Amino acid sequence: MSDYRFLRACRRQPVDMTPVWLMRQAGRYMAEYRAVRAKYSMLETIRTPELACEITLQPLRAFALDAAIIFADILPLLIGMGLQLEFVSGEGPVICNPIASAADVDALRTPPAAENVPFTLEAIRLVRRELGGWLPLIGFSGAPFTLASYAIEGGGSKHHLKVKSFMLNEPDAWHRLMEKLTQVVGDYLVAQAEAGAQALQVFDSWAGVLAPADYRQLVLPYVQRVIAQARGTGVPVIYFGIDLNGMLGLLAETGAEVIGVDWRVEIDDAWRQLGDGVAIQGNLDPALLFGPWEQLQPRVDNILRRVAGRPGHIFNLGHGILPGTPVDNVRRLVEYVHERSAALKESAS
Ligand code: CP3
Repeated sequence: MSDYRFLRACRRQPVDMTPVWLMRQAGRYMAEYRAVRAKYSMLETIRTPELACEITLQPLRAFALDAAIIFADILPLLIGMGLQLEFVSGEGPVICNPIASAADVDALRTPPAAENVPFTLEAIRLVRRELGGWLPLIGFSGAPFTLASYAIEGGGSKHHLKVKSFMLNEPDAWHRLMEKLTQVVGDYLVAQAEAGAQALQVFDSWAGVLAPADYRQLVLPYVQRVIAQARGTGVPVIYFGIDLNGMLGLLAETGAEVIGVDWRVEIDDAWRQLGDGVAIQGNLDPALLFGPWEQLQPRVDNILRRVAGRPGHIFNLGHGILPGTPVDNVRRLVEYVHERSAALKESAS
């Protein structure tokens, strides 16, 4: 059995204090990260295992976090499938040849992760060596729908109209696309666990743009397959999306041990809908870190009070930490979650 409090919480085992990590914990809000990115492009940092390893460790040196997450991105997986990805500064990721037809789907390749993204697997091995027994390492992938959305929209999107139109107008090609992505994502998750990732997070950031019935029919079966494959390695799986609060009951069917929730729902309310079978991760609004500590603290207390010491809570933000986030608030948040949750446990026993 693991002694890491993060992995214990994933399995709903009791912990001495609530584990905490932050989505996008390595990123532009840190001067150390900006210094590396001033010299190398986003894709260079991801493709150079030593740089990815260094960036992964930066937030761990700065804050008392309970887990590392490998520095990578969900989108480079698409490059080996035949999509041309660029990270345009100030604009985010852009795919220059987005999928527009059934023929485009059929032209996609499905290379194994060891061929497609060997640098991330090597970065995982490097980070594990550096971490020793200090902290556990999380690997991750985009989920099939969120990757399909980027592949079809060609970037971020307001209404997700292209991907939704594709689902409706090309139902057979949609399923062939989801099949291909399921194969590539499932293999990537397994390869990360084999390289040393001790937990896996599946990011389905945009699944919340769908109606529950469409999610159930067109997306959930593929989520279930990648999660079942990942869990076959024995590591816990976290499934995360935003705006999914109208379908929390369905998320319990994904097969993930942990469900990540955003901040648009009270955490105890979300947990009631998810049921007893899963652990929960979240749910602080990342924008709250821009306020003074006096405003932040009662909102952290609200989450801890609602969880009430129930085993299986991993403290996190409801979405990634934002550029410009004051570093002092991050430090204070992480320390406070530990202190406060330990004190609450003490007074309850
Ligand atoms: O959490 C971590 O510290 C690990 C690293 C990580 C990144 N992206 C690094 C990154 C993770 C887990 C991701 C996941 C990711 N990437 C998601 C799912 C999570 C979410 O936020 O919904 C998505 C949708 C992407 C796609 C992506 N990558 C976008 C939309 C952007 C541009 C927006 C932005 O924040 O700049 C990226 C770029 C990106 N990925 C950066 C980082 C640190 C910023 C790159 C830079 O300019 O230095």
